[in-house]
Amino acid sequence: MKILVMNGSPHRGNTWRLTQCVREMIQQWDKTVEFTELHLTDIGLPFCTGCSNCFRKGHRYCPHNEKIQPIMDLIDKSDAVIFSVSCFQGHLTGIMKNFTDHLAFLIHRPRYFYKKALIISTTGGVGADSTTKALAATLAGWGFNKSYQLPIAAYSWNAYEPGGRDLQKTEKAATRFYQDVKSNSFHPPSIGVLIPFNLFQAMCSDKDGDKQYPTEDDRFWPQYAGMQYAPGIPLPIHKRLFGMIFHSIGKHLGRKMVISYKK
Ligand SMILES: Cc1cc2nc3c(=O)[nH]c(=O)nc-3n(C[C@H](O)[C@H](O)[C@H](O)COP(=O)(O)O)c2cc1C
Repeated sequence: MKILVMNGSPHRGNTWRLTQCVREMIQQWDKTVEFTELHLTDIGLPFCTGCSNCFRKGHRYCPHNEKIQPIMDLIDKSDAVIFSVSCFQGHLTGIMKNFTDHLAFLIHRPRYFYKKALIISTTGGVGADSTTKALAATLAGWGFNKSYQLPIAAYSWNAYEPGGRDLQKTEKAATRFYQDVKSNSFHPPSIGVLIPFNLFQAMCSDKDGDKQYPTEDDRFWPQYAGMQYAPGIPLPIHKRLFGMIFHSIGKHLGRKMVISYKK
């Protein structure tokens, strides 16, 4: 099992210390697990410029692709990702938000259907849960099959030492995450995930539609033609039907909607 551990905090503080506990627990249970560490601060990723090249032309046209592609390759090579991110003002750190902005195109073209995540956040008092929830919502949009969350109130400025009930909670989350990754089985997608999958697919399926310009989305979606979700992921019949309904709505929207862009 390969696990990528991504530090999305600007330093190695409380959250990183808790993340190390999780890593040690998993390593104790299974010596064969291979961890790769990535510290976003080491990457020097500039801010997303908002050029929208990733959406329109493809992510390889991102002006920062030489920094983003190696991270995507690391995720591709991993079975799961542990995201470690401090709670700053009840939300993700700026450095993590900037990273997720660079991958926002994945909402249009999800790909991490067979990956699972554990999101760890610590806060001074409140807001760790809104931080982990925000990232879990983003990861669902990128296709991640399941995100476990470990929000902890540290009540500390950089001197937090995990112990007591926090360690119990940590062990519980780490166990569920590890067992799930090890199971090699997958969870059915939520309705909230099925909607964009079917809408985008349908909107890109109408070759005769009045398109002002072709986008990378049009090249991406044909591989999923006729599927309500990614192959190999279980999809109960009611969700299959739900997907079909949203596919029909997407087809209708695709014919009506004209999206402008600056040449
Ligand atoms: C810029 C900044 C923003 C913060 N925002 C919050 C907050 O919204 N709520 C809170 O309870 N603590 C807040 N804190 C405290 C941290 O969340 C807390 O110390 C956390 O454990 C820091 O994790 P770290 O050491 O991994 O960076 C903030 C700290 C900083 C530096």
